[in-house]
This record gives sequence, C-alpha cells and structure tokens, in this order.
Amino acid sequence: MARWRLCLLILAVLFSPAAPRETLRAQIWAQPPVPTLYHQLMLICEVTGEIGPQEYLWEKQGSPGPLQKHPNSILLFRPFNKTHLGTYTCTASGPQGTAVATYSLWINDMVGSVFVFPQESQSAYVQVKAKLEQPLNNFTVCLRSFTDLTRPCSLFSYATKNQSKEIRLFKPGPGRYELYVGGKFLLFRVPKSLGESEHVCASWESSTGIVRFWFNGKPWPRKGLQRGYIVGVPASILLGQDQDSFGGRFNDQQSFMGEISSVYMWDMGISTSEVKAAMYNRPNETPIFGWRNFPYKIVGEVYLKP
Ligand SMILES: *[C@@H]1O[C@H](CO)[C@@H](O)[C@H](O)[C@H]1NC(C)=O
Ligand SMILES: *[C@@H]1O[C@H](CO)[C@@H](O)[C@H](O)[C@H]1NC(C)=O
Ligand SMILES: *[C@@H]1O[C@H](CO)[C@@H](O)[C@H](O)[C@H]1NC(C)=O
Repeated sequence: MARWRLCLLILAVLFSPAAPRETLRAQIWAQPPVPTLYHQLMLICEVTGEIGPQEYLWEKQGSPGPLQKHPNSILLFRPFNKTHLGTYTCTASGPQGTAVATYSLWINDMVGSVFVFPQESQSAYVQVKAKLEQPLNNFTVCLRSFTDLTRPCSLFSYATKNQSKEIRLFKPGPGRYELYVGGKFLLFRVPKSLGESEHVCASWESSTGIVRFWFNGKPWPRKGLQRGYIVGVPASILLGQDQDSFGGRFNDQQSFMGEISSVYMWDMGISTSEVKAAMYNRPNETPIFGWRNFPYKIVGEVYLKP
C-alpha cells in the first residue's frame, strides 16, 4: 500500500510538467485537537507551498478503497465513533506536485506503557470501562503478561450478573493457561519461561465452539468448548483479580503480581497475522477496546508505568 503510493508519488514528481522547485509539505491536524467520541471531528489536510488548484485524496490504513477525493481539504466525522480510529493518509495533488501526510487517530493511547501490579492484593485491579451492548457470538482476547508467580493468577476476568466466569483468562501455574467461556474451561500447555514476558491470544466462536489459542504469536491446536453458547452483557471486565461475583468477591491467592500490557478484545475471530499485528500494537481490525484506545480505571495499588 505504502509502496505503490510512494511509486505514484515518484512518478508524479518525475512526469509532472513543472517539477516543484520548493519542497511541498502536507500536514494533517484535528479539530478539536483532542477528539471526543460521539462529537463532531474534522481532519484538515494543510499544504504549505503553492501547488495551484488542489485535490485531496483521503485513505485509511486497512480500508479497501479511498474515503474521499475532493477539492475540499477537510475529512468530516459527524459524529466521531470508534470505527473511525486508525491511521489516515492525505495526498494533496495539483499541477505542480504532490504532498502526502499521515495522521494517527487514537484515543487513550497506551503504547509504551504497562500496568504494574506490585503486590499480592485482595483489592487492587484495573477495570476496563468498555460498554458492550450486544451479546457476543465470537470474541478474541489478547494480552501480554510478565510474572514470576508460581501460584494461580487471574489475567482477564469478564463477569456478568449471571456468570462470574463468562470469559476468563487464567494462569493456574507456570506453563499453563486456561480459557473459560460461560463457566467451562480448556487448558493449554505452553513452554515454561522464566524472565520473559508472554503474549497470549484466545478466540472462541459460538457456532462451532472452536477455541483458538496463540502463544507468542504461534497458533496452538484448536479445541472446542460451549458450542451454541452466547456470551452475555453487561459485563464487568477486570485485569489482575478474579471475580467470583459481578465486580467482586476477590481472592488474593488468585491476584496477579507483575506487569500486564497490550490488552485487546474484539467481538470476532482474528487471524494469526492479526494476532502478530496486535503483539506489536498495530492491529488492522478495530477492537472493542485495545492498547491504542483503552478506557480504564485503576482501583487500589496498580500503576501505569513506561
Ligand atoms: C460510526 O459512524 C459511521 C458513519 O461515519 C456509521 O456508519 C457507523 O454506523 C457508526 N458506528 C457506530 C458503532 O456508531
Ligand atoms: C461469528 O463467527 C462466525 C464464523 O466465523 C460467523 O459466521 C458469524 O457471522 C459471526 N457472528 C457474528 C455475530 O459476528
Ligand atoms: C442465566 O443463566 C441461566 C442458567 O445458566 C439461563 O437459563 C438464563 O437465561 C441466564 N440469564 C441471563 C439473563 O442470561
């Protein structure tokens, strides 16, 4: 994608009748500068240097076609919602040349940070403040964790009023992960690692019950669980504590100690290449929440650190 754009840019420069004498620069800025969900947002493509009558081509990374090709330099979102998050490119062209600018539209970007859970606790956790509106037929959860605990610990706990283990990513001990759906679970054995963080993803689809599990970007053999089940809403989603009831009844012997980062959840299955993209915080599919738009609240002793 970037390569053909570069080729076009080079061709445009080589074959344009009057090659630009000064360097054209394009820049994208947002109005308002800090975007708010469900409000109007404009991305404005501003060109410095005279390029005469202009046309602006807007594209979004991961989107098949161009979004807009127009003499107007403004891309309008009315209102701005989470499906609009992503990386945008504006290509401004006129008789004297072309200029390209990119812009990353994210809210609450946490890339480069981790949650530190410094000690065993019965009260410290991170609450994910995402509002899920529809029950889930499919989901994927990914996260990175770093711990030297040998006792059981809870990484991701999604509880409903009806089922406290609606979705649960749990580490019963080193070299083992459990995925719960609707209170039932599957065990995945992985190599024991000491002194290294571990990235895991787990996905489930209702129609077949098939669970996929990836360890450090590598797929594990598929297994099945809870075919036909529907994951309920509303949910209480916590990191670092296991919920035995909706939003509570924690056990310090299952609390997490160490670091958690790169937390993502999608309402669909994803591919191995998308798992790897999420490992590097560059997913193409828009998650329900993810490390580049992570609505959270810290309760008790947990720190967000570089
Ligand atoms: C987001 O806005 C687009 C229009 O730009 C609309 O088509 C879409 O349904 C909206 N999605 C949500 C989840 O509100
Ligand atoms: C869930 O996944 C299955 C299989 O990939 C797909 O056919 C179905 O449409 C998905 N359901 C929803 C609600 O996304
Ligand atoms: C709660 O769980 C019971 C039994 O598992 C089920 O029959 C019922 O439909 C569930 N209620 C809701 C609101 O999900």
